[in-house]
Amino acid sequence: MNWNIENIRIENPVVSAPLAGISDKAYRILAREHGCGLIHTEMVSEMGLVYGNKKTAELTDLDGEMQPVSVQLFGSDPHALGKAGRILQERGVRLIDFNMGCPAPKIVRNGEGSALMANPELASRAFGTLVESVDIPVTVKIRKGFTPDQINAVDIARRMESLGASAVTVHGRTRDQFYSGTADWDIIRQVVQAVRVPVIGNGDVFSPEAAEDMIRQTGCTAVMVARGSFGNPWLFGQIADHLAGRVVSLPSMDSRRDTAIRHLELVVRFKGETIGIKEMRKQMAWYMKGFRGAAVYRDRVNNSRTLDEMIALVREFFDRQAEE
Ligand SMILES: Cc1cc2nc3c(=O)[nH]c(=O)nc-3n(C[C@H](O)[C@H](O)[C@H](O)COP(=O)(O)O)c2cc1C
Repeated sequence: MNWNIENIRIENPVVSAPLAGISDKAYRILAREHGCGLIHTEMVSEMGLVYGNKKTAELTDLDGEMQPVSVQLFGSDPHALGKAGRILQERGVRLIDFNMGCPAPKIVRNGEGSALMANPELASRAFGTLVESVDIPVTVKIRKGFTPDQINAVDIARRMESLGASAVTVHGRTRDQFYSGTADWDIIRQVVQAVRVPVIGNGDVFSPEAAEDMIRQTGCTAVMVARGSFGNPWLFGQIADHLAGRVVSLPSMDSRRDTAIRHLELVVRFKGETIGIKEMRKQMAWYMKGFRGAAVYRDRVNNSRTLDEMIALVREFFDRQAEE
């Protein structure tokens, strides 16, 4: 089930998504430990890298992580993108992804992210310059189009391939849709038909069965998982197991408890206690979602002030589930 992006070997067809505010070092370590084949960072700004912004540098720090990890860049200034690409390459990054999908108004107003879908000329200059500036493979993540009247994923994918894209990820939604409605997998199939490089399908993969369906319906090489992994890193390995014909196992309560605590401890190790416990509030809510008493414990977790307090609550929550 392994595949390649150029010379980079990827063990299985499961890819974790670039996720701003989520796919930090702790998330990436957990994704890898749970069997994900290819992992993405949060999106980072080309200008942040060029101007040596400390926060941007932190976002791209892959120290101690198992490869392959792809750093996702966003921006639209060709020159700055080229420079940012070289900076990443010099720091030892082996794979770069270019963001042409972000729907956030702030990003779109700057002509970046999904706005590039509606501006193929600039998209081509930006992506082409990035590819030419580095020796490492560069991939691109696109949407179906910008609006329902501008469905151009196939055209954009072809353009980016001709400029040297080593793989294309297609999220089957327009920018208008943000993350609502259902993803259109047929557009993924159309892109698969149109290009020769590997296509990573993305949108609404919440189960191993959905991953299999997506591959069957579209012919994509790999599937990218975003929201399905929230509080649920087991999904990566479950998809890999299912696709390889192995038995899929469900995590025990002990495993849920230990993983949630490990996630928390990793975030605190990398970001410090104050930021760490604050950032982990939403993640803990995801780990606890669907279990008895989740709402009550979510509030208690949100009010906890120290790492020890949060750990004790998470422990108590999952131990109670196991007892009942
Ligand atoms: C909180 C959040 C942050 C995201 N951040 C990024 C990002 O930094 N770069 C990117 O290309 N897509 C980003 N996305 C989009 C996802 O990578 C993915 O394309 C989308 O969620 C669809 O996949 P899913 O149906 O598996 O969730 C983000 C999505 C969410 C929900």
